[in-house]
Amino acid sequence: MPKETFYITTPIYYPSGNPHIGHCYTTVACDSIARYKRMQGYDVMFLTGTDEHGQKIEQKAAEKGITPKQYVDEIVEVFKKLWSYMNISYDRYIRTTDDYHVEAVQKIFKELYDKGYIYKGEYKGKYCTPCESFWTESQLDADGKCPECHRDVTEAREEAYFFKMSPFAERIEKLLTETDYLRPKSRATELVNNFIKPGLEDLCVSRTSFKWGIPVSFDEKHVVYVWIDALSNYITALGYENGHYNDYQKYWPADVHMVAKDIMRFHAIIWPAMLMALELPLPKHLAVHGWITFNGQKMSKSLGNVVDPFVLGERYGADSIRYHILREMALGADSSFSNEIMINRINSDLANGLGNLISRTVAMVLKYFDGTLPENKQSGEHDAELIAEMTSLRAKVDEAIEETKLNVALAEIFKVVSAANKYIDETSPWILAKNEADKPRLAAVLYNLLEAIRITTTLLSPFMPTTMPKAWEQIGAAAGDVTYENAEKYGVLPSNVTVKKGDVLFPRIDVEKEIDELNALISANAPKKEDDEDGANLVPISETISIDDFGKIDLRIAEVKECEKVPKAKKLLRLQLDDGFGGRQVVSGIAKWYSPEDLIGKKIIVVANLAPAKLCGVESQGMIVAADVGEDARVIFVDKDIPNGSKLR
Ligand code: MSP
Repeated sequence: MPKETFYITTPIYYPSGNPHIGHCYTTVACDSIARYKRMQGYDVMFLTGTDEHGQKIEQKAAEKGITPKQYVDEIVEVFKKLWSYMNISYDRYIRTTDDYHVEAVQKIFKELYDKGYIYKGEYKGKYCTPCESFWTESQLDADGKCPECHRDVTEAREEAYFFKMSPFAERIEKLLTETDYLRPKSRATELVNNFIKPGLEDLCVSRTSFKWGIPVSFDEKHVVYVWIDALSNYITALGYENGHYNDYQKYWPADVHMVAKDIMRFHAIIWPAMLMALELPLPKHLAVHGWITFNGQKMSKSLGNVVDPFVLGERYGADSIRYHILREMALGADSSFSNEIMINRINSDLANGLGNLISRTVAMVLKYFDGTLPENKQSGEHDAELIAEMTSLRAKVDEAIEETKLNVALAEIFKVVSAANKYIDETSPWILAKNEADKPRLAAVLYNLLEAIRITTTLLSPFMPTTMPKAWEQIGAAAGDVTYENAEKYGVLPSNVTVKKGDVLFPRIDVEKEIDELNALISANAPKKEDDEDGANLVPISETISIDDFGKIDLRIAEVKECEKVPKAKKLLRLQLDDGFGGRQVVSGIAKWYSPEDLIGKKIIVVANLAPAKLCGVESQGMIVAADVGEDARVIFVDKDIPNGSKLR
């Protein structure tokens, strides 16, 4: 009988800068699931790759004076090196510059055009003649000029192709709200309210303003929009519309697409719409995870906070990094990264928990039985409980993997590790060892511990593929003992098993020393602001709120009548405002950036219904609205002709 198939994908990454720990999450998570499924006996296809087209890449290459292909080739090598370093067992790696993908995307675009879902229209925007660039209104600089050269722009229209998505709105809404496609399903509301309810807009799917993309085969001055190009990878990599591979029938539809929340919309709406238009089956699940954040912001190179995954792997081992990021992230939520949390987690779970269990057990078998357990054993108190925990573990891990809740899977496994450590304390083998008559009981205790180690390390091996085989060597497990089938059975290791002393699997880390060293490395390697890859040093958008929530905030226009420094408070200014309601006093921590003269006579926005508070003993009746720009605060000034007291809506 042919094996059942399982197809899992990561997003394809932009090779616009080197990868960081944030990029590792999805890939490590998919790798762990792929390995687990292989262990269960599935025929797995695990796909990853790189998304290599687009204007940004074209510009970066031009800045370096090389071709876009040369530019991406270099970075793709770093991605591949990282994945090999992290032991990522992908089955296929797609590059969107691969010929077969280019050919297939052209066919997909043509098919959508022939079916009438793609049509030619007009893209309205602003044009900068010297830069030969189109911009949307929101891309212009603060003065409404070209964001590149800051010269005047003119109204312009560009011919473009559009993808009609509205025919699929109802089906997509059902997919999101009535099926198990989206995980976690709680995210469906924001998608439906923000994109489907207001009416699914047609999507502009071609560009003529730059060249680095896949040409539209029947209108070569257009290149295909990067997202149409990128999303297609999930089927072109199987051979859809190309002769390079022949796996489409076998693996499609995908079992799991895993992505982070910032690209959920593309996978929850545009991708299903494309597949519906092509009349292809839809993927089974879209698992959406949060971001690895650093100080509350999405981790990115531009934050200057990112310790290179190669550096971390070198210091603590790739398996420890894999474990840490998977254990920390609950599906759907963000997880905040800090070196301290990581080191403490490695110390508590891996060094003290699992590592200690293995080294203590192996050391006791060596010490009390010269390394080989005797046949004569005597069961006793606490055995049944531990055996029940270990044999029921596999079902719990299966369920968590099925739901792509990897942190839950790891938590379940570590409950059994803790139970085994507790069992050592409860049975006190060192006391049993004092009395020859207790040796059969001692042998049983140690055997049970070896079995608990065998089962937990078997189930952990997809997550930590390098270290677990070393543990198996130490506990004397043969390859046939550490299979998925045997992970729910007790009594698999031979009764007279022989253990072997080995290296400490997870050495304890000196927290303070490491933190100092890592901080030194971070400051030495901090990239300059200009290295910003993707504007990602912006604070992420907060959770959605309802219109009623927003309605609770009363924002008013007010004029600054008087302003002075607050004595003995370097950061504070006291402002007297005309708020249209008789005036009010506000204290604001903006003295570092503004002197009183900068503000007097200006109109600003005040949060008017904020409960009064005292700052350095001075009462403040509200708060002034300002924007965070890097380290700076910039007050938002408004037109002089808006009357004081006007309410914002
Ligand atoms: N090229 C697109 C994906 C196209 S898929 C058809 C893209 N690439 S990306 O390189 O910017 O991001 C790839 C994935 O990494 C995304 O899911 C992105 O959200 C994720 N992450 C990037 N930084 C991350 C964190 N700090 N934390 C978790 N995931 C992060 O988007």
